[in-house]
Amino acid sequence: MRHEIDAVQTAAGDQVVLGDGRPDCDDDPVTGFFGDPSPGSVQATDPTTLERLFGHADGLLPLWIAEPYVPLAAPIVDALERRARSGWYGYEIRPPSVIEAFWRWAGARHRWDGSDLATEVSPSVGTSIAVLIDLVTEPGDGVIVQPPVFTDFKPIVRASGRTVVTNPLLLGDGGYTMDLDDLTAKAADPATRMLILCNPHNPVGRVWRAAELEAVARICAEHDVVVVSDEIHGDLALAPYRFVPFGEVAPGSGVRWAATHGPLKTFGLAGVCDTLLVTGDEAIRDGFRAMSSRLHLARNNVFGLAAFEAAYRAGGPWLEGMLELVSGNLQLLDQELPDPIGLMPIEGTYLAWLDLRSLGLDVPELTRWLADEARLALSPGHWFGRQGAGFARMSIAVARPVVAEALDRLTAAVERLDRRRRT
Ligand SMILES: Cc1ncc(COP(=O)(O)O)c(C=O)c1O
Repeated sequence: MRHEIDAVQTAAGDQVVLGDGRPDCDDDPVTGFFGDPSPGSVQATDPTTLERLFGHADGLLPLWIAEPYVPLAAPIVDALERRARSGWYGYEIRPPSVIEAFWRWAGARHRWDGSDLATEVSPSVGTSIAVLIDLVTEPGDGVIVQPPVFTDFKPIVRASGRTVVTNPLLLGDGGYTMDLDDLTAKAADPATRMLILCNPHNPVGRVWRAAELEAVARICAEHDVVVVSDEIHGDLALAPYRFVPFGEVAPGSGVRWAATHGPLKTFGLAGVCDTLLVTGDEAIRDGFRAMSSRLHLARNNVFGLAAFEAAYRAGGPWLEGMLELVSGNLQLLDQELPDPIGLMPIEGTYLAWLDLRSLGLDVPELTRWLADEARLALSPGHWFGRQGAGFARMSIAVARPVVAEALDRLTAAVERLDRRRRT
């Protein structure tokens, strides 16, 4: 069987060539994508990192970090090249057009008009969450997270001297849902002051419905719990699902809230771009501005400005192509994952959440099996909380042959495991 894809048709009928933006892309779709951006080292393939996390780096197919491993949008690459050629890299003012580009994008893509909301610049999602924890909670207070969930949340809460409170997602036949009764009970504790929501949810791929978010807003308003909605994957809802920004359901509920946004996951710009903190709450806005001023959080990296604006102004067709690629990759996984590995239903993100529980391996065995037998560097599910044990997360914003290669490796590893168990 041949699994090949050079170009995809967008919803608008445009042909997007995945290769457009990267003139020196190697021909090998599996290894060639990761160039050597010397003097840095690509984190996903860095041998020292791989050895630390997976025990070795030999021949691993690295699909463990949530970012797109396809040639990036040509308008972004062009903007960066133009900016580099300008020869001026000193202090630079952020023109209003940069934030305007974000809101125009949010309006066109998500039907979200947030022009009356405060929009603050922050170097990273992690920075915003840490600053918000300092602003709205006291040492020792509880911060709710919903595991299995993105690995950074708990360490930020702990490093801030706050207490992690878990409101685990429920796993039923139809996939994951929020446990709203448990959320109510946890929010009712007066020591609990904040909820970190992840929408779309990394790693389980849920795109929370308006009704679910309204319930969260109601519960958190009632118990005076501030909602920080991490919406960094917001552009990655897969058809037919619609990403509902928390800022759309919050008004009228009385909940205090803030949300994180930015182009880093959507367009693969984690090494360049700032993020945004959006809020309808004046006290949060003022507190964040004061902290930003004290810590100099908004320095204006000249390349970041160029990439940010180009992404939101001209990145739409590329994103359509990328999402179609992801949908096709999901179909391929669904059809060809070897028994008994399952694929959880996914509504958003480019992260496949593989169900490997039926292999009957415990947590250390599964981690070793993936790296040693399947030679895949995936994120083992327990990294996201013990609720994720038995699962693994795989980035599938990759060319079709890469998914095919991962499938071949999994299939061969499952066959070997079966043979060993039979003898
Ligand atoms: C849900 C979520 N939030 C935040 C981040 C990271 O954001 P930052 O690097 O800006 O802290 C990631 C990265 O994978 C993520 O998946």
